Amino acid sequence: MGKALIIGAGGVASVVVHKCCQNPEVFEEIMIASRTLKKCEALKRKLDGGKTKIQTAQVDADDSNQVIALIERFKPDVVINVALPYQDLSIMDACLATGVHYLDTANYEPPDVPKFEYKWQWAYRDKYEKAGITGLLGCGFDPGVTGVFCAYAQKHYFDEIHYIDILDANAGDHGYPFATNFNPEINIREITAKGRYYKEGEWVETEPLEIKRVYDFPEIGPRNIYLLYHEELESLAVNIKGVKRIRFWMTFSDNYLNHLRVLQNVGMTSIEPIEFEGKMIQPIQFLKAVLPDPATLGPRTKGKTNIGCIIQGVKDGKPRTYYVYNVCDHQECYREVGSQAISYTTGVPAMIGAMLIIKGIWRKPGVYNVEEFDPDPFMEALNKYGLPWKEDFSPDLVD
Ligand SMILES: NC(=O)c1ccc[n+]([C@@H]2O[C@H](COP(=O)([O-])OP(=O)(O)OC[C@H]3O[C@@H](n4cnc5c(N)ncnc54)[C@H](OP(=O)(O)O)[C@@H]3O)[C@@H](O)[C@H]2O)c1
Repeated sequence: MGKALIIGAGGVASVVVHKCCQNPEVFEEIMIASRTLKKCEALKRKLDGGKTKIQTAQVDADDSNQVIALIERFKPDVVINVALPYQDLSIMDACLATGVHYLDTANYEPPDVPKFEYKWQWAYRDKYEKAGITGLLGCGFDPGVTGVFCAYAQKHYFDEIHYIDILDANAGDHGYPFATNFNPEINIREITAKGRYYKEGEWVETEPLEIKRVYDFPEIGPRNIYLLYHEELESLAVNIKGVKRIRFWMTFSDNYLNHLRVLQNVGMTSIEPIEFEGKMIQPIQFLKAVLPDPATLGPRTKGKTNIGCIIQGVKDGKPRTYYVYNVCDHQECYREVGSQAISYTTGVPAMIGAMLIIKGIWRKPGVYNVEEFDPDPFMEALNKYGLPWKEDFSPDLVD
């Protein structure tokens, strides 16, 4: 049926590739292209021989022209960008130049400013509309499935949504004193930034990790959760009409936060370039080089993740509360695709989004966030492709 160009060959890309190969009726051919060719070739070696034909290529996706050349050679229906957020705009430009649909899992962030927002990518709306191509932004789990969950709640259970709390728990243990579950640079930049949430049309800013609660997660148990700014808050505040408050919460262990605090105190998480042995380096990139590669955590990580949305609002004049979540087991993910659950929960939705674009089900000219499409086919696909969800109509609330 279709062809996908997958850019990136890290933890998330590996899951995308596995999942595309499990779905060969849709993904007849894929090309894995990344900065380091041998990582693409290693993935191809693992999965070659099935129905999906696999090619590989080297590309520096910071350079639009290289991506354009690759697209012209391979002629994909969709580009799945699972490199880093820094490449979003150059890859979007290449899709625009060649008339190919685009999908990513994280919004653009300039390399030298730790600030992510949608304005850069939303600025492509008119251009994508005129070109007749779809740009699907933030199609991982959070952002991604969390937006689909909200759209599903809006469609089936609420006349008005007033409050949304997005809860992301990772109770996995990899046995290392300190490691991040996805790209350390992106992960640490996100956590060390100021917190922010949406309330009555305003953004309320907090100090990093200033607001803490305890939440008793289904299948995981009680965990400390911290209020963070997360990119889906920006699009949901626009797309869920009438919402009064949206917050995002993530679990962190005391051990993780202690290590992070020390690394921050000694300057290792800084993105300010410093001179080291005659070369300019960013301390956080050096830190990334010495930390365990997230792609290698799979075999060691035990435990579960639970990510979902608690939504409060009104249906038929009566108050209603709804909790929809997915629980994912790190070891089960590893047995299936050789990755831990963080990569799995991101890669599966990226494959589903690309599948819906290829099938023409989620295709409309312009640039969109996931909650702007019909959630039903996506929700059905989550159950089918490894991320089943559960519902609870009387959950505990976050105060
Ligand atoms: N929405 C969600 O739920 C969610 C959750 C987790 C992660 N994410 C996002 O998923 C993406 C991938 O994360 P990950 O954990 O897989 O990261 P990763 O393991 O670091 O992989 C990133 C890949 O991108 C490649 N790359 C970097 N710069 C490139 C360039 N200029 N040209 C071509 N390839 C380049 C890297 O190549 P090298 O091998 O040469 O370094 C690597 O293969 C990130 O954007 C992350 O923010 C989203």
